[in-house]
Formats: sequence, C-alpha cells, structure tokens
Amino acid sequence: MVKAVVVGAAGGIGQPLSLLIKANPLITELALYDVVNTPGVAADISHINTPAKVTGYIGDSQLEAALTGAYIIIIPAGVPRKPGMTRDDLFNINAGIVAGIAKATAKFAPNAYVCIISNPVNSTVPIFAEVLKQHGVFNPHRVFGVTTLDLVRASSFVAELRGKDPKDVTIDVIGGHSGATIVPVLSAFGTFSDAEREALVKRIQYGGDEVVAAKNGAGSATLSMAYAGARFANAILDATVAKKAGISECTFLKTDVAEKDELEFFSTRVVFGPDGVEKVHPLPALDSHEQALYAACVVELRGSIQKGIDFARSKI
Ligand code: NAD
Ligand code: LMR
Repeated sequence: MVKAVVVGAAGGIGQPLSLLIKANPLITELALYDVVNTPGVAADISHINTPAKVTGYIGDSQLEAALTGAYIIIIPAGVPRKPGMTRDDLFNINAGIVAGIAKATAKFAPNAYVCIISNPVNSTVPIFAEVLKQHGVFNPHRVFGVTTLDLVRASSFVAELRGKDPKDVTIDVIGGHSGATIVPVLSAFGTFSDAEREALVKRIQYGGDEVVAAKNGAGSATLSMAYAGARFANAILDATVAKKAGISECTFLKTDVAEKDELEFFSTRVVFGPDGVEKVHPLPALDSHEQALYAACVVELRGSIQKGIDFARSKI
C-alpha cells in the first residue's frame, strides 16, 4: 500500500497538487486533508480513473485518520503572501499550523516522507524537524522543504534566454527558499554576460514576487507550485516505490553540507535510491559571483533557521 496525504488539500496549491498526485499510478490511497472543503475536492478527484482510492478528511478530529499509514505527506497548508509581504511575514500564522501538523505526524505517521511547501520554508522545515525531535522520531532523511519551484523557474528562464528546450536545462538552486537565500548555480550550466547573469539571478530569487504582484492580492504561485510539488513527490515515489535509478532533486533538509557556516539546514542536490536518501551532495563549485550570493544567503538563512527552532522549543 502506498498512501499519499495532502495536508491543505483544498487550497490554491492543494487542489491542483492533489489532482497531479492522483495521476500517479504508484499511489494506492490518497488522503485529502484540510480544515475546509475536502469532501467536494475528494469527490471530484475520485472520479479520475487511476488506482488511488481518494478520501477527504476535514478538521482536527479527522487528522489522525488522514495521516495514519501515510507513506508520503505533502504539506501546502497555511496562508500565502499578498503584495508587499515577505515570506517571513507569514511566520506568525504558518509556524503554528506547521507545528500542529508536525505533532500529529510524530504521533500518527512518524516514518513517512514529509514534503513541506508551507512558507517560510526556511523556518517551517526547522520547526517540523524540531517537533519530531521532541517526540524522538526525527529522521533527517525523511523531512524535506520543497524548493523545486526555484529549479523549475531557473530552468524556464535560462531555456527562454538560450532558446533551448527546458528539459535540456537543469540548474541547481541551493541555499534556502526566500530572496537572498536562493542561490542559483548558473556557472555549472555555462557562461553568461554580467547583465544576463544579474537579470537571471534576480528573476530566480524574486520569481515568487513576480507572481504575487501579478495576482494582485489573490495569493501567490499555486499552479506552478503544484507542478513543482508533484515533481518532487513523484521523484521520491519513483526512486523508493518504482525503484528507478538516477533520481535526484535539490531540497532543503537537515544536513552538514554548510556546517562550516553554522547552517543546520540547507538546500542541496540529493540522490534518492530504493531506501530513500542515498547521497547528499556537498556544496558545488561556485564562481566568485556565486560565492558572494552564498555569503548573503548564509546571513539570512541562519536567522530564519534559528527563528524556527526557537519557536518550536518555546512550545514544549
Ligand atoms: P491557500 O490559502 O490557497 O491554501 C492553503 C490551504 O491550507 C487552505 O485550504 C486552508 O484551509 C489550509 N489550511 C490552513 N490551516 C490548515 C491546517 N491547520 N491544516 C490543514 N490545512 C490548513 O494558500 P496556497 O496558495 O495554497 O499556499 C499555501 C502555502 O504554500 C503558503 O504558505 C505559501 O506561501 C506556500 N507556497 C510555497 C511555495 C514553495 O515554493 N515552497 C510556493 C508557493 C506557495
Ligand atoms: C514562491 O516562490 O512562489 C512561493 O514561495 C510563494 C511566494 O510567497 O512567493
């Protein structure tokens, strides 16, 4: 049995993400959990003719049933940004939401692969990890911040600039998932003029703001995020259920790759094998421009990680 759970399934990301997850034939059971509207979303998605049996769960009293037996949990629960807000402005609301889901995960699905989309990812992942630690069930190779949208954007923007098919353009994006903490490693792909590089870096770092501004108060990226979230979850399923070789993605996880800069969490390329994380890539070679981006990332990321850890510790 392969049970996937979407937490926040009725939201702007949750609905298209649930649709894409339902399309994966490896899944046998799909639990759609939210505090509102899941009966309708589940009824609708359940008519899609793939194997997963779909069930909607609504409200706190049904969270246990939704999570129990989960193989993979994907979490886009929480509020999105409006124009003028940073992702960190979401902390006050989303930190509590994520801590609550982490507590329930610790009790009802401690071995599941957890993919966290809720912002600010740079803090929500440390919160989730800390809560699991408090319950004695934290496995650093099971809790992932989904930064795939940054890679999707980098691939799109570079492909557009170079007139290539995006499937032939892979750009690693390391660090975190917010403004200056997003570090695209363009040098591994090729050479760019100063103007090209500066424009690309800015657009990849602030792609989220582009969507927030265009939606003009109606939220942030949902459809591209659903695509990216499904790509990340499917990577884990392809490697661990279908046992496909050569599966890797960049993701934000607890790791020592940036330990020298006192970062407990960092997004880097991870290889997934049949038993989960097989290899965590060290920091890639960075040119002088990327080293400067990395230095800026470190300062902001360290603070966001500590803020998440402090929040979770204050709730014990
Ligand atoms: P949304 O408001 O459309 O949907 C959020 C859903 O979460 C709602 O249906 C809401 O009812 C639900 N929810 C709230 N509290 C909950 C709880 N305790 N348990 C379960 N569900 C709960 O928002 P959205 O546009 O889908 O965005 C969701 C989150 O994803 C935001 O925090 C946003 O910033 C983040 N996001 C992250 C990325 C990324 O790259 N990681 C990209 C886009 C958006
Ligand atoms: C994104 O990168 O699109 C998301 O993190 C949502 C946001 O707030 O920008």
